[in-house]
Amino acid sequence: MKEKIKVAPSILSADFANLKDEVIKVEKSLSDAIHLDIMDGHFVPNLTMGPKVVAAINRTTDMFLDVHLMIYNPFDYIEKFVEAGADLITFHFEATEDVEDTINYIKKCGVKAGLAFNPETAFSMATKYLEKCDLVLFMSVHPGFGGKKFIPSVLEKIKLAKNLKEDMSLKYDIQVDGGINLETGSRCKKMGANFLVAGTYLFGEKDMKKAVLDLKNC
Ligand code: DX5
Ligand code: ZN
Repeated sequence: MKEKIKVAPSILSADFANLKDEVIKVEKSLSDAIHLDIMDGHFVPNLTMGPKVVAAINRTTDMFLDVHLMIYNPFDYIEKFVEAGADLITFHFEATEDVEDTINYIKKCGVKAGLAFNPETAFSMATKYLEKCDLVLFMSVHPGFGGKKFIPSVLEKIKLAKNLKEDMSLKYDIQVDGGINLETGSRCKKMGANFLVAGTYLFGEKDMKKAVLDLKNC
């Protein structure tokens, strides 16, 4: 059976002066989630938003909030983002030495847990955590900014994650984030990704609903 593909527009590419309208636009696009990039200026060389903005978005929509933490010490911020309305909290494997505790605590707080990997990080290092993950996220650009070029070496990692998922009879989503459009999205799907995040592509199209559907069908 063909796997259902999920799509999440990244709010990083939205017009922040009209955030409410942009969130409503995402809701109307029939996307599966809204992807919220949280950056601390240390783990990545950029700053974005904190729990207060996430809470404001949560008041605007009933959509599934996919919170992507690009911050050091993610453990310390879990409660704040759960209170703000996160449905999924993904943190970076490279950002903490307490990967297991962080996953456990996210789940204890009643939301889904995702583990993210930078382009140069080997996925095989994380096999022991996979049973606990609801999602693995492969960065297909160096994190920090939207609009960057897709790094094709991610494709092999997606394939490995897909094979491991099958071999271990696990259920985690395989999400890809960075430089996703119809061409790169299709390549990721062929390798086994079932969850695509896109900022520049989806916000750059006049008809976001059509663009989301195109991404699901590419
Ligand atoms: C990058 C972010 C991405 C970004 C994707 O660090 O994690 O979510 O917004 O944007 P595009 O699709 O423009 O690469
Ligand atoms: Zn992201």
